[in-house]
Formats: sequence, C-alpha cells, structure tokens
Amino acid sequence: MKAIELNHPLIEHKLSILRNKKTGTKEFRELIKEISMFLCYEAMKDAKLERLEIETPIEKLKTGKLNEDNYAFIPILRAGMGMLDGVISVVPNAKIGHIGMYRDEKTFEPVNYFFKVPKGISKKEILLLDPMLATGGSALDAIDLLKSKGVKKIKFLCIIAAPEGIKRVEEKHPDVQIYCAHIDKKLNENKYIVPGLGDAGDRIFGTK
Ligand code: PRP
Ligand code: URA
Repeated sequence: MKAIELNHPLIEHKLSILRNKKTGTKEFRELIKEISMFLCYEAMKDAKLERLEIETPIEKLKTGKLNEDNYAFIPILRAGMGMLDGVISVVPNAKIGHIGMYRDEKTFEPVNYFFKVPKGISKKEILLLDPMLATGGSALDAIDLLKSKGVKKIKFLCIIAAPEGIKRVEEKHPDVQIYCAHIDKKLNENKYIVPGLGDAGDRIFGTK
C-alpha cells in the first residue's frame, strides 16, 4: 500500500508554522493536535458503520453509527503522546494503549521500555501514532509487537515521514497503511528527517 500524504493547503500552512524553529511549545503542541485530527479523519475514511434508525424532529432516518470500541489508539512514547489529544477529540471512546520506545543516540536502533495495550486488542483496528517516521526502526518494532499479540489491522499515522522509513515499513509490513501530513526529502547523517521539524519529543515536551 502506498503511503497516503495529506495534500491540502491547510496542512501545508500548519506545517509551515510547526516546522519553524521559532515556534514555541504551546503552539507546537496545538498544531500537532490539529494535524492529528486531520490524519485521523483521513485514516477512518473506510470505517464500517452500524446501521440504525433515528428520529429527527422532522422524520425517521436510517443512518450509521461507529462502534468506537472497535478502535484503539496507540501512541509510541514519548512523542506519539502529542498526537493523542487530536485523535481522541475525533473518536473519544476509542481505547488507548501505550508503547514506550526510544531511539538509541549512537546506534539509532529503537529500544522498547513499555508495552501496555487494551484487553481484546487482537480484535481491534489499531491507529499507531508517532509524529516522526525516520529510519522506520521504531515503527517496525511497534508493529512487530502488536502483530505478536494477534493484531490484524494496523494503520500508522505520522506527521512527517522520510522516504527511507516508508520504504522499510512498506517492505516488511505491506498490509500497514501509512498516513502522513508530508513526505520529506531524506535523512541526514544523524538520521534526522530533512527538512523535518527537529526532535519532535523535545519540542512537544519542551525538554531541550
Ligand atoms: C523519535 C520519534 C520516533 C523515532 C523515529 O523518538 O518520535 O519514535 O524517533 O525514528 P526512527 O524512525 O528512526 O525509529 P525518540 O527516540 O526521539 O524518543 P522520544 O519520543 O521519547 O523523544
Ligand atoms: N526523531 C525526531 O524527533 N525527529 C527526526 O527528525 C527523526 C527522529
């Protein structure tokens, strides 16, 4: 499956503020939240609705309702937490899991330090959240962990994706659809995305 990039002037506008190194923590967090709402909207385009009949003040209507319990949002800590508010505001009753992962500064390999997911995870559709898909190492490990628990349907939502990371996820997990706000140029020698937005976790949490 080809990565789906949100191609919209509003997204480019928001990304231009997000990427700017002068943008402060408050605005950075707000923009991550807003863009995540749009990513969630796009990623749930194929959601199956349960049919029901309601009565409007004017007449009866056959319509559709989402069973939110069929969905779980799983942020990859830390930076994925920044996207959680946005997706929850769209699907407030989805379940939430957490995968703790950090990238070793020397090897750039991901290190898993936490894994807690909702009961019945194997039957849910997972929206895996991480603002940055760089080498793809963290995404691959998180997807492997979820699949080892029997999960069948995973979508990966990120703000910025590097072609290198997309390629690795597509090769190893062709069933996982990637949604991103933008596909950037490349990785630099420190495996940061170029032009990117810097260190997403540090900018969300103000740690540097
Ligand atoms: C960042 C980012 C991803 C990972 C992407 O996390 O949020 O999880 O790097 O890089 P990769 O595709 O090369 O694996 P980081 O390790 O900085 O941890 P943090 O979220 O705790 O800041
Ligand atoms: N992690 C980040 O936060 N930013 C990058 O550019 C790459 C990995």
